[in-house]
Amino acid sequence: MSTRTSPYDSSTDDPLAYATGFHAPVLARDVQQRLVTAATGVYVDATLGGGGHARALLDVLDPEGLVLGIDRDPEALAEARERLAAAHDAGRFRAVRGTFGRLRELLEAEGVRPVDGMLFDLGVSSHQIDAPGRGFSYREEGPLDMRMNPQRGLTARQVVNAWSERDLREVLRTYGEEARAGALAHAIVEARPLDTTRDLAEVVEDHVPPPEAVKTLTRVFQGLRIAVNAELEELEAALEQATDCVRPGGRIAVISYHSLEDRRAKRYLRYGNFEGTPRRDLYGDLVAPWTETPRAPIVASEAEVEANPRARSARLRVAERREDEALGTPLPPT
Ligand SMILES: C[S@@+](CC[C@H](N)C(=O)[O-])C[C@H]1O[C@@H](n2cnc3c(N)ncnc32)[C@H](O)[C@@H]1O
Repeated sequence: MSTRTSPYDSSTDDPLAYATGFHAPVLARDVQQRLVTAATGVYVDATLGGGGHARALLDVLDPEGLVLGIDRDPEALAEARERLAAAHDAGRFRAVRGTFGRLRELLEAEGVRPVDGMLFDLGVSSHQIDAPGRGFSYREEGPLDMRMNPQRGLTARQVVNAWSERDLREVLRTYGEEARAGALAHAIVEARPLDTTRDLAEVVEDHVPPPEAVKTLTRVFQGLRIAVNAELEELEAALEQATDCVRPGGRIAVISYHSLEDRRAKRYLRYGNFEGTPRRDLYGDLVAPWTETPRAPIVASEAEVEANPRARSARLRVAERREDEALGTPLPPT
C-alpha cells in the first residue's frame, strides 16, 4: 500500500519548481519537508545529480546549514557545482566525487559525521539517459557503456561480450526481472560481438514480438545497468553505513524507482536487515535502528506525474534514526 500524505498542496505548488534541462527531481517538496529536522544542520545528498534536490534542501535551511553532495559522475558534479556556485561560495554547499557505497569514509574525510539527514534518489539522471554517448538508452544509438562513472569499471560492452551465458541469464533474470532471460542470454551470446546500444536492441527486437518489445528492452537495459554499476550492492552498503552516519533523531529519505530497490529500502528501514526479519527484545519490542515515518511509501501526486512522467514509479521512504536506547536491551548473561 502507498500513501499520498504530502503536506504541500499539489494543486497550487509547481512540481517542476526545481527542474532544469539536466534533470527534474521528483517529490522535491516532500523531501524538503520530511527530511529536514534542524534548519542549521548538515544534510547529505548522496545522489547529487544536477543538484535539484540539493537546491530544494538549501532553500529550507538557514544560512548556517550545509548540504554535502556526493556523485560518482563527473558530469553531474560539474552541473551541480555550476548551479549551486553561490551556495558554495557562501560555505553552504560542497560537492565531492565518490560512490555512496563508501559513505562513512567520504563523510569522515569531509569532517561531517554524524549528520542530520541523508537523501538517496536512486538510479540514473535524465541527463545520463538522454546523452547517447553514455549508452544507457535503447532509444539512442551509442556505445554500450552504461557506467555512471565513465572513468572506472566494467562497461556494458564487456558484460555482454565476455560474460558467460549463465551469468548473463542471471543478470537479466535477477536485475531485469525478465521472464525470457534464458532465451535472450542465449541470443546475445549467439549475436556477439555487440558494440552499440542498437546492436543489443536489435537482438531483443528479433526475439520478442513488437507489442512486448519496449517493455523487454527496458528490462534488459535496466538489468545490465544495475550489474555494470553494482547498484544493489552499493545501496545495501550505503544503507548500513547511513545507520552509523546519521545522528539519533536525524532522518534518511530514499527514493526508489523499481521493486528491487524499494524492497531493500523498506526492509532495512523497517527491520535493520535485508531479509526483512523482525528482531525483538525481551519485552517483545521491535529492535531496529530506524523508525519508518510514515510506514507506507509516499508517491507523487497526479499533477506531478503529469508534469514529470518519471515520477510515476517513484516511491519515497523516510525514516528516523532511533535513540541508542531504542536499539534494545542486551540479553542478560545466562
Ligand atoms: C536520479 S539521479 C539524482 C538526481 C538529483 N536528485 C537531482 O535532483 O538532480 C541519481 C544520481 O546518483 C548518482 N549515483 C547513482 N548511484 C551512485 C553511487 N553508488 N554513488 C554515487 N553516486 C551515484 C548518479 O550518477 C546520478 O547522478
